[in-house]
Amino acid sequence: MTSLDRRLPPGFLEEALRADARAGLTAEPKSLPPKWFYDAQGSALFDKITELPEYYPTNAEREILRATAGPLAARTRARTLIELGSGSSDKTRLLLAALRAEGTLACYVPVDVSEPALVAAGQALSAEHPGLDVRAVVSDFEERLGFPADGEAPAPRLVAFLGSTIGNLEPVQRAAFLSRVRAQLRPGDFFLLGTDLVKDPATLVAAYDDASGVTAAFNKNVLAVLNAELGADFDLDAFEHVAVWNAEAEWIEMRLRSRAAQTVRLPGIGLTVAFGDGEEMRTEVSAKFRREGVTAELAAAGFAMRSWWTDAAAQFGLSLSVPA
Ligand code: SAH
Ligand code: AVI
Repeated sequence: MTSLDRRLPPGFLEEALRADARAGLTAEPKSLPPKWFYDAQGSALFDKITELPEYYPTNAEREILRATAGPLAARTRARTLIELGSGSSDKTRLLLAALRAEGTLACYVPVDVSEPALVAAGQALSAEHPGLDVRAVVSDFEERLGFPADGEAPAPRLVAFLGSTIGNLEPVQRAAFLSRVRAQLRPGDFFLLGTDLVKDPATLVAAYDDASGVTAAFNKNVLAVLNAELGADFDLDAFEHVAVWNAEAEWIEMRLRSRAAQTVRLPGIGLTVAFGDGEEMRTEVSAKFRREGVTAELAAAGFAMRSWWTDAAAQFGLSLSVPA
C-alpha cells in the first residue's frame, strides 16, 4: 500500500463509539448505529455474508459491474477512483482493471471506518497493480469524507459508493451525505452509486436472516465490539437476531431481541442498562430503492443521473451521475 492516512483526530472513533453507545442504549427504543459492526471480525463476517446463497446484492452488483466497467472507464476516463465504504474492495477490482486498461487511472483512494479491512485490501491491491498509487483513508464518511484535497489527486475523479451501503443511512442522513459528496465534486467528476432494489419481502428477509446464521453472528458482533471497547458484559447468547421488512419505510430492520430480562454493565461509559424480556434494539436499517426515488434523491443533492443499469433479474441498480 502506498499510504494509510488517518483523517480523524486521535481518539475520535473511540469517543464517537462511547457517545453512540450512551445515546443509543439510554434511548427508548434502544438502537445502535451500524458502523460499529465493522471491527476485524465484523468485516470478515460481512465478507462471509457476501458469499451466502441468500445474500443476492453482491453478486447482482458484480454482474452489473462486469458488463459496465469497460464502458464506465471509457466514459469517465477517471484518473482517480475514490471509494467510500470500500471494505475488501472486491468488486472494485473490476473497475480498477477497466480503468487501468483504459490507461487513465493513477490513484485509488479507498475510504473506510475499518482500518483492518483497509490495510488488507490496500496491500493486496498494491501488489496486484504495481504503479497504482493506493492511498487508503481511515475515516467516518458521515463525519469527514476523506477525499484528497484539490490538486492532491489528479482529475477527473470517479467517486464510487457501492454495495448499497447508502441504504444503511436513514433518509435525513442520506440527503445530508449526498449533499456533502456533491459539494466535493468538480465539473468532469462522476458519482457511481449502488442501490439495492425493492422486491418481494421473502427474498429480502432471507437475505438478512440466512439459514447458516452468518448474519446473526454479524448482527451480534456489535455487542462483541462493545465488550471489547467498553469492557461491557453482553452475553451474545442472551440475544436473538431479528430481521423484519418494514413495508412502509421500504427497509429491512435488523434488531437484537433480549431472550430474558437482564442487566448489562458498560464500565467504559459508567452505564448499567436493563433489557426487558423480548425487548428489541435496532442495529441497522437497510433501505431498498426504486429508480424514481434514487433519481429524485440524487437530484435533490445537485446530481444529474446519466445512466442506470440493473442486473438481468432487476434485483440491484447502479447509477452514474454528474454534478448538475
Ligand atoms: N463496498 C463493499 C463493502 C460494503 S460493507 C461492498 O460493496 O461489498 C460496508 C462498508 O462500509 C464496511 O467496510 C464498513 O466498514 C464501511 N462503513 C460503514 N459505515 C461507515 C462510515 N460511517 N464511514 C466509513 N466507512 C463505513
Ligand atoms: C453494507 N450493507 C449494505 C449491508 C446491507 O445489506 O445492508 C450490511 C448487511 N447487513 C446485513 N447483511 C449485510
